[in-house]
Amino acid sequence: MKLTYYGHSCFMVETSGKKLLFDPFITYNDLAKDIDINKIVPDFILLSHGHSDHIADCIAIAENSNAKVVCNWEIHEWLNKKGIHNTHPMNTGGKWNFGAITVKCTAAQHSSGLPDGSYGGNPIGFIVTGSDGSFYYSGDTSLTTDMTLVPKWAKLNFAVLPIGDNFTMDATDAAACAGMIDCKKIIGVHYDTFGYIKIDHEKAKKAFADKGAELLLIKIGDTITI
Ligand code: NI
Ligand code: MN
Repeated sequence: MKLTYYGHSCFMVETSGKKLLFDPFITYNDLAKDIDINKIVPDFILLSHGHSDHIADCIAIAENSNAKVVCNWEIHEWLNKKGIHNTHPMNTGGKWNFGAITVKCTAAQHSSGLPDGSYGGNPIGFIVTGSDGSFYYSGDTSLTTDMTLVPKWAKLNFAVLPIGDNFTMDATDAAACAGMIDCKKIIGVHYDTFGYIKIDHEKAKKAFADKGAELLLIKIGDTITI
């Protein structure tokens, strides 16, 4: 699998012949000003919840690419009203086979209002499985014992977890999550974008190393093979 980091919690995974973009928030992120959203052409866009730092560029990229947007029921209805009709509504606990990939929605402990004040439903995470393997993106969430269920559903190649604290888990909680989900390769997201979530990178990496796991902090715009 290949993973490209676009800053904050936005990343693209190429797996099983498909391109999956998660939580597009680029044009309003000063740290990602060198990224051109017109060059991002995914097959799917997956949204963990309705906050603007996860969906700000969704409509523009969906219009450019005609990607299928996978999200909860309330965000699906909201996107339909905004003219985005290639959507697939899901909700916590459900899974769907999209052909090359299967997506399962996991519980996330967070909130999910939409930018215009509309009700955004509940936040979710995703387990994606295809012929290339499986990965988990928790979305914005606290550490929760629900994460111990993840190994029942997938043997993970890697996971993407928030580490910025204040709004989500910090690196110490995310390292504990790595143990619960039985995954030693973690990509950190949701850090450094705003003042509230600026972190010490070396301390964060050490929190994972202390638990026998590895934290990867990818430079914005870089692609790794994983
Ligand atoms: Ni959020
Ligand atoms: Mn967020």
